[in-house]
Amino acid sequence: MTPPTLRSKDLLGIEPLSPEEIALILDTAESMSSIGQREMKKVPALRGRMIVNLFFEASTRTRFSFETAEKWLSADSLNFAAKGSSVEKGESLLDTARNLQAMSPDLIVIRHGTPGVPHFLARNLKAGVVNAGDGAHEHPTQALLDALTLRRHFGRLSGLTVTITGDILHSRVVRSNIWLLTKMGARVRVCGPPTLLPPGIAEMGVEATHDFDAALDGADAVMMLRMQLERQGSSYFPSTREYFKRYGLTAPRLARAHPHAVVLHPGPMNRGVEISSEVADSPRSLILEQVSNGVAVRMAVLYLLLTGHSWEGDA
Ligand code: CP
Repeated sequence: MTPPTLRSKDLLGIEPLSPEEIALILDTAESMSSIGQREMKKVPALRGRMIVNLFFEASTRTRFSFETAEKWLSADSLNFAAKGSSVEKGESLLDTARNLQAMSPDLIVIRHGTPGVPHFLARNLKAGVVNAGDGAHEHPTQALLDALTLRRHFGRLSGLTVTITGDILHSRVVRSNIWLLTKMGARVRVCGPPTLLPPGIAEMGVEATHDFDAALDGADAVMMLRMQLERQGSSYFPSTREYFKRYGLTAPRLARAHPHAVVLHPGPMNRGVEISSEVADSPRSLILEQVSNGVAVRMAVLYLLLTGHSWEGDA
């Protein structure tokens, strides 16, 4: 049975969530997505609540979709970027967070390059904490918006075969997606060059291969991951040209997947490295739908965490 709300004050990852909690977030996001279709994109659901967006790493989609979700739900937002803050004078993370806490926010949304930082804040602060990406660990709201996109397209997650290809080693998106898709009954294949496929990944309940053509065979959805050049201290493949030849998603390659297969990418894309423009801009690409669904998922997460009850609509 779907629970009326989430068990925790925080959303730190997909790993601790039950399938019922995941379904609750997706169902709530589905109901809330109509808010964005209205002429007046605002409901009073979180009026008087304060949310701090604490971004220590660059972001376009996650940061702006949290801000959009907060505005549409009438919450007050404070936006913090490490650059230009007292972090540049050496203030620690905990002191920064404690000072923000002193202004009584109800929720903190944090992106940080170090795994576990959202968990550390959740243990030390009264406010709820949402993980907006912690190092190569988890990016729970990305996996939730990917799931919403797939569920809206196929009407289900259970029984789908999803191939995830690229920089598996450095990807927080893949870890959250593996947790989510396997909990919801999908079959997951991960694929990448040997240097970017961590040993032991199959223990997460996925099939792992270096053979992209085999990984695509009959797949319902193909999720391409960004080559995270900024996290790669040394060279993991001979050249981006060579990488594209072996692991880039092109139209002829996509033909190996199921004829109804769709394409996802969390962004930002490296066109001509992991995906061709022909595929990224094709009708089979759901990449911009993912972005739109990101606002609905973030509204659902904020609402469920802050109110402690399910969404009945605002009418
Ligand atoms: N998908 C994602 O996290 O994108 P941003 O880094 O732009 O937020």
